[in-house]
Amino acid sequence: MTTNDKDIVLHVADVHKTFGGLHALSDIDLQVEQGKTHAIIGPNGAGKSTLLNVCVGRLAPTSGAVIFDGHTLTGKKPHEINQVGVARVFQTPEIFPELSVLHNVMVPAFAKRDGSFSLNFMRHLDTQSDIRSEAESVLEDVGLVAQKDVHAGSLSRGDKRRMELAMCLIQHPRLLLLDEPTAGMSRHDTNTTIDLLKRIKERGMTKIIIEHDMHVVFSLADKISVLAQGRIIAEGSPEEVRANPKVQEAYLGGAH
Ligand SMILES: Nc1ncnc2c1ncn2[C@@H]1O[C@H](COP(=O)(O)OP(=O)(O)O)[C@@H](O)[C@H]1O
Ligand SMILES: [Mg+2]
Repeated sequence: MTTNDKDIVLHVADVHKTFGGLHALSDIDLQVEQGKTHAIIGPNGAGKSTLLNVCVGRLAPTSGAVIFDGHTLTGKKPHEINQVGVARVFQTPEIFPELSVLHNVMVPAFAKRDGSFSLNFMRHLDTQSDIRSEAESVLEDVGLVAQKDVHAGSLSRGDKRRMELAMCLIQHPRLLLLDEPTAGMSRHDTNTTIDLLKRIKERGMTKIIIEHDMHVVFSLADKISVLAQGRIIAEGSPEEVRANPKVQEAYLGGAH
């Protein structure tokens, strides 16, 4: 299965996912355009993280397919999907707590260049000045350069998320998936992250963002899909979605 439209980077085609008797995702059809920020919103338990996990190969869909750049991703392993240009920030950061912030950011750049980790990579970390300077520049972008020598495990929750974002950016992905990138951040850090994500957008990176925070969604999204009980109940521009009574009932109203 392929899509002919050249502007579509990711096509989630008729995806269903069940967990036992639970229909976590039903009839999901999603088309993400090149260079756009596509937000997925919806109440807790709507299926947002499940959808993201299907896109990155952590979960296999029960039926349907995920097509990236005309190639079917379904059945590929997470690292293979990563290699073709899809990177993600999870709801719970996945980091190396014993390594410094700088080294954490260098690891994915090594993995990308060399295809996989080698046991020797730790020994060579400090001799890789090209990767090191790129990691420093990405840390500058996310506002973490002052903490580059700190153990990653001792960062605050918000800073861990920013570090994980840096670990994605250093890979120069074509598609970046973010599951609640501002969760656990103060309003100030949230605004800094929004500014950063806007700058990434100017560089033409396509993004899917899952977010609870309406301020974040409406500041960033070009298009919004609203999930409720595993189905897309509305889709459109932020203005269209905001005005949709079904959305107000299922999500915006229900959130308070
Ligand atoms: N691995 C799993 N096994 C069983 N049920 C799951 C699993 N992951 C998610 N679910 C269920 O699927 C539904 C959607 O969950 P999730 O995608 O995490 O929602 P959201 O991210 O929108 O809050 C929920 O009812 C959740 O309990
Ligand atoms: Mg979730």
